[in-house]
Amino acid sequence: METRTALVTGAAQGLGQEFAVALAGRGYRVAGLDLIPQPGTAGMILDYVELVGDVSDPATVEEGLERVIDQFGALHVVVNNAGVYPAKPFEETTVEDWRRVMRVNLEAPFLVTRAALPYLKAAGWGRIVNIASAAVFTAPPTMVPYVASKMGLIGFTRALASALAPYDITVNAIAPSMVRTATAERTVGADGGFEAVRDGQAVARIQEPADLVSTLLYVVDEASGFLTGQTLNVSGGSAYL
Ligand SMILES: NC(=O)c1ccc[n+]([C@@H]2O[C@H](COP(=O)([O-])OP(=O)(O)OC[C@H]3O[C@@H](n4cnc5c(N)ncnc54)[C@H](O)[C@@H]3O)[C@@H](O)[C@H]2O)c1
Repeated sequence: METRTALVTGAAQGLGQEFAVALAGRGYRVAGLDLIPQPGTAGMILDYVELVGDVSDPATVEEGLERVIDQFGALHVVVNNAGVYPAKPFEETTVEDWRRVMRVNLEAPFLVTRAALPYLKAAGWGRIVNIASAAVFTAPPTMVPYVASKMGLIGFTRALASALAPYDITVNAIAPSMVRTATAERTVGADGGFEAVRDGQAVARIQEPADLVSTLLYVVDEASGFLTGQTLNVSGGSAYL
């Protein structure tokens, strides 16, 4: 079988790094696009293409994808993982806050998918995976733009699945619970945030990035072509779901 290639956004750390390394472990050639350099990820993957830039900038995305194709010759899997999750009372949320969350979490997956599509079609096979959040169900009051952006991403996933099915390209979303990444530890997970979420789950422990890997590999699997337009809630049986 031809070696598959994957692009993971937000691959410098956290879930994106976990996904990039897991795909490489399955024999994928992997490229990562992040605002920041990705030495940790590059150090764990042979033949890694490191792209540094803003995923919400169309030119950056298009140039990045051209580099991936120059290096690997094809593209099969896109993981739209880069995201931001600021918490703020709704009354203090500015238009700039709203637009930044929408741009990174919702517009960027559109830009990346649109730019990747000709390559996925050329490969004759594709998997697009959007990283949503179980926060769309728990709806924390300080994350109104975030919840709206991830609900939008789920809508994007569903309609795009219909649009791309004729090309043998599936589109699915994965919705994690709160996951122990460095960013979450510094922000939403601090001051008892992790414990509060854990206590609402049937699985009474804090979710780790590794808990998402088997779902990602299932969704991108060659044999998962009949699974599309779905959001897989990997959230420890959260009491809210
Ligand atoms: N950690 C959690 O608790 C949790 C829970 C549910 C969903 N998620 C989602 O999972 C994804 C990853 O979360 P994480 O905790 O690993 O985050 P993280 O902060 O550890 O990693 C996100 C990466 O995305 C990059 N990034 C941010 N904006 C970017 C931009 N404009 N262009 C390019 N790269 C950009 C960052 O530099 C960072 O390296 C996000 O979409 C997040 O919403 C996270």
